[in-house]
Amino acid sequence: MSSQHVVKIAEIGRAPRAAPAAHAVPATGVLLDRLARPLTDLRISVTDRCNFRCSYCMPKEVFDKDYQYLPHSALLSFEEITRLARLFASHGVRKIRLTGGEPLLRKNLEVLVEQLAALRTPQGQPLDLTLTTNGSLLARKAGALKAAGLNRVTVSLDGLDDTVFRRMNDVDFPVAEVLAGIEAAKAAGLGPIKVNMVVKRGTNEQEILPMARHFRGSGVVLRFIEYMDVGATNGWRMDEVLPSAEVVRRIGAEFPLVPLEASAPGETAQRWAYADGGGEIGVISSVTQAFCHDCSRARLSTEGKLYLCLFASQGHDLRPLLRGDADDAQIASALGHIWQGRSDRYSELRASRVPDTDAGAARRVEMSYIGG
Ligand code: GTP
Ligand code: 5AD
Ligand code: SF4
Ligand code: SF4
Repeated sequence: MSSQHVVKIAEIGRAPRAAPAAHAVPATGVLLDRLARPLTDLRISVTDRCNFRCSYCMPKEVFDKDYQYLPHSALLSFEEITRLARLFASHGVRKIRLTGGEPLLRKNLEVLVEQLAALRTPQGQPLDLTLTTNGSLLARKAGALKAAGLNRVTVSLDGLDDTVFRRMNDVDFPVAEVLAGIEAAKAAGLGPIKVNMVVKRGTNEQEILPMARHFRGSGVVLRFIEYMDVGATNGWRMDEVLPSAEVVRRIGAEFPLVPLEASAPGETAQRWAYADGGGEIGVISSVTQAFCHDCSRARLSTEGKLYLCLFASQGHDLRPLLRGDADDAQIASALGHIWQGRSDRYSELRASRVPDTDAGAARRVEMSYIGG
């Protein structure tokens, strides 16, 4: 965080209370960062806990029984989250994604979903409200989430083979329960459903084709994510990254693929269609083809820190503003200043460095803390 921002936020936090803000915050116009990128996506982490221990995210040796998770008093309440989300919407945010850890571990999450689903853009439109989950609790919760107003879900799934999957989640969780979660989400109307598979060379790459065969023609959009150097604990090595081009080559050899246009600016995935009409797949290539140039995503941590990049080491603490006497207009103004000062583009810079390992890693926040 730059000292300039700290000062601005602190000043705003101390400013005298203005007249009570109207309930619906007026549009503040298009907000651009220093690289002319708008703010359109807000990813909100609702817990830093997870019931899986995927080695690329929460390796068991680090996230053991002594690991210090955030205390309950540090978490933003649903009201605080919703207030911030409403102010972000006034700045142009159109999509909200709930993340974790595992978001379905947060108690009464459907109450938050209901509050967020009631928000409107300044033009009166509902937001695109979605959630990324490991799927373990989805069979139980899909119906309630849909009823609360969730639009769709993305499920992480790193293989179809039960042995491989149990090894990937490292808590011996059976793949059948996640597949049942995906079916429940479909039945509840939480679609179009996306499935994210993180590919680690030498670990689960043999699952690429079975996954493609399984989800082809099912209406589910399967996306392959390059293993990334997020956080400081996963022991990332470049030689464990399987480039997306190779994933596309392997699938294309069995099922011819044709490239598709991006469906929205700033999209993480490059899309490919099965030439025979069997649906589409996506590849998320943060390592080999960085997509920072139009990155429109901000991330809010469970304790109310705003991060401007997945690879950031520091966030802008909004909790003092929320728990102080700042009014809506003052908080909205603070958010605007933070975004306008943003110049993060970690993946593009990494692409020009291509380190095998990275000394800066020690300071980066963990994926389980900031959400994917
Ligand atoms: P859709 O709107 O459904 O396409 O969602 P999305 O792709 O924005 O969200 P999702 O959570 O499915 O993201 C997929 C994965 O892409 C994440 O889990 C991360 O691993 C990665 N990812 C998402 N956003 C970023 C980003 O801004 N930078 C980098 N480097 N990776 C990202
Ligand atoms: N590299 C790539 N993707 C990751 N995810 C978690 N850690 C990593 C990593 N190191 C993915 C998860 C999930 C989302 C939240 O982020 O598999 O799909
Ligand atoms: Fe949990 Fe998702 Fe991280 Fe796996 S990738 S440990 S499921 S938060
Ligand atoms: Fe956005 Fe940072 Fe990811 Fe680049 S590395 S796309 S700036 S979150």
